[in-house]
Amino acid sequence: MSHISSIASAAALLAGVASAWPTLFSREETFINGTTNGTNTRIYDFADLPPRPDLVWTPCWEDRFTCANLEVPLDYEDESAGTTNVAFIKVSGAGGNGAGQNIYFNPGGPGGSGVQSALGGLLDQVLSVFGPGYNIISFDPRGVNNSGPSPLTCWSDAEAKAAYSQPSPSSDLKEFYAANVAYGEYCTKTNEETNVKYAGTLAVVQDIVHFHELDIVLNGGDPATTPIWYYGVSYGTVIGQTLAVTYPDRIGRMILDGNVYGKQHFTGYVSSDIDDTDTTFAYFFQYCFEAGPSKCPFAGNSSSASALETRYLNLLDRLENEPIRISDHATPTPQIITRFGFSSWAFPLTYSPANGFPILARVAADLENGNYSTYVAATSGGSSGSSAPSNPNYDDAASQEALQLITCIDANTRYPLTNFSLYSAALTKSERESIYGGESNGKSNVIICAGFGISPPASQLFPGFSKVKTASPILFVNNVADPVTPLSSALRMSDYFEDSVVLTQDTPGHGFIGIKSSCTHEHLRKYLDEGVLPEEGTVCEPDHPYAPFADVAVERKVRRIA
Ligand SMILES: *[C@@H]1O[C@H](CO)[C@@H](O)[C@H](O)[C@H]1NC(C)=O
Ligand SMILES: *[C@@H]1O[C@H](CO)[C@@H](O)[C@H](O)[C@H]1NC(C)=O
Ligand SMILES: *[C@@H]1O[C@H](CO)[C@@H](O)[C@H](O)[C@H]1NC(C)=O
Ligand SMILES: *[C@@H]1O[C@H](CO)[C@@H](O)[C@H](O)[C@H]1NC(C)=O
Ligand SMILES: *[C@@H]1O[C@H](CO)[C@@H](O)[C@H](O)[C@H]1NC(C)=O
Ligand SMILES: *[C@@H]1O[C@H](CO)[C@@H](O)[C@H](O)[C@H]1NC(C)=O
Repeated sequence: MSHISSIASAAALLAGVASAWPTLFSREETFINGTTNGTNTRIYDFADLPPRPDLVWTPCWEDRFTCANLEVPLDYEDESAGTTNVAFIKVSGAGGNGAGQNIYFNPGGPGGSGVQSALGGLLDQVLSVFGPGYNIISFDPRGVNNSGPSPLTCWSDAEAKAAYSQPSPSSDLKEFYAANVAYGEYCTKTNEETNVKYAGTLAVVQDIVHFHELDIVLNGGDPATTPIWYYGVSYGTVIGQTLAVTYPDRIGRMILDGNVYGKQHFTGYVSSDIDDTDTTFAYFFQYCFEAGPSKCPFAGNSSSASALETRYLNLLDRLENEPIRISDHATPTPQIITRFGFSSWAFPLTYSPANGFPILARVAADLENGNYSTYVAATSGGSSGSSAPSNPNYDDAASQEALQLITCIDANTRYPLTNFSLYSAALTKSERESIYGGESNGKSNVIICAGFGISPPASQLFPGFSKVKTASPILFVNNVADPVTPLSSALRMSDYFEDSVVLTQDTPGHGFIGIKSSCTHEHLRKYLDEGVLPEEGTVCEPDHPYAPFADVAVERKVRRIA
């Protein structure tokens, strides 16, 4: 999820005039104060922006962006630990000159790059909802993409990494569990003396507060009385929840969207993640049915949404009983399509229904007819259309390692599934909870922290959630059918924050922005602009009853929120 510049804002404030910001960003620009040191060349790579302990904004990539590479202490209470860097990018709203209210943002993961959320256009989308007067300050949290410490890895040695093959989810379950525990123990040992332990969520929260103080001072304000505004999605809600419980007096506005059950996040095992996954699929069948065969290829001639679901379940059964063989050289090596493989592929498609539902509908319809060419096309060639990462050191594998390590540093030594029978029971629970996501969740998210025991330093230990009153109330937002962060998490976390409200959007998907609801957008603007919360229990309907299939030719903007 991803804005302009406080170079512009500082300059405009000092000059006491609202100068039009684009003119401030000519390639070789000299700024008035506090923002640069002489000429200021636009950068296109954080490697060209040496970290420094004071806040300096530099033009980057496009006109409405500025970047800062802040040097921060690894441990705010132990100087001897050394320093690392955090990459920030600011995007200004279209109507502003960068002088409007800043909103901090994190897109999730953990491991998702806030810098990429700016470059990829997500933050423009967010600003178009929030309104032109706001700016978003996004950042790569510790250990992610352009920020240190890096890399977050379990390997001290590239050869060992290359030689390792991950435990197969189809192997004997006891072996699978033991192999995961061995990996976690190995990773913990690798990181006994590394800086990896400084990349937990509490450290990220401290970085936000530190940055905020520098930014406010740069703009001539008083950091003690200038509140922090924040918007987080998915794991970004964990950062927000943690920020709010540790610095309740500092909260201005906070929107938490697609909520993780933060309390359990800090154990490494969230037992409720997939409570709404099957509801999400129910929306898929319903939308597809309503759109009809001309718009949704899987609609076929089924006479109800439940008839459509039955066909889908039959497809899963067929794949289970007899995996489809791909042996005609359509793939470089012989392959099979299993129920688990297909379901694990389909599950994340439901995060972004606008893109994912049409793809799922096409592939399921073709597979039902024994045609696997669209499945092969959709699963080969890597991620869904995003351009090659410009930072080759942070590829998909690296972001998966970051996800695992950040989650498990947060878990510290609290991971509860400490023997096979506990894990096996948790897997069974997951499978019972969801037909469509239970097994893949049970063999990924549920087990990632087995064997881990990396503890953050004392100053970065999370004290736990307790009921607090934030200076201004938090607005939680959640879809009723979120495949990976159910509505129950928003309700549970809202209980910790006095006067907070949960706004529900009656759509599938991970995050409100995936399907347009003008009702949600209006409530968010009213909250941001005036501090007015919706009434508890408010449910917003989407603008279109089956939006993902409304226009099959609709532009497919690739968006990925982990
Ligand atoms: C300006 O930046 C250069 C290179 O980053 C540095 O060597 C120099 O000391 C800086 N000058 C000031 C006045 O900060
Ligand atoms: C720049 O701004 C800061 C804070 O607003 C102020 O303290 C400082 O004196 C200014 N410096 C110059 C050279 O104008
Ligand atoms: C629905 O389609 C299937 C397969 O295309 C066909 O066998 C069946 O007769 C159709 N049913 C109706 C009611 O048209
Ligand atoms: C398989 O489906 C694709 C896309 O729907 C189509 O273009 C292709 O012709 C089909 N292949 C066969 C053998 O029917
Ligand atoms: C990391 O950041 C760079 C810009 O510095 C961006 O181009 C790239 O896509 C990001 N990588 C990921 C995986 O988000
Ligand atoms: C697994 O751990 C639980 C909780 O500590 C314990 O009650 C149970 O007996 C253990 N099971 C086995 C087989 O060791």
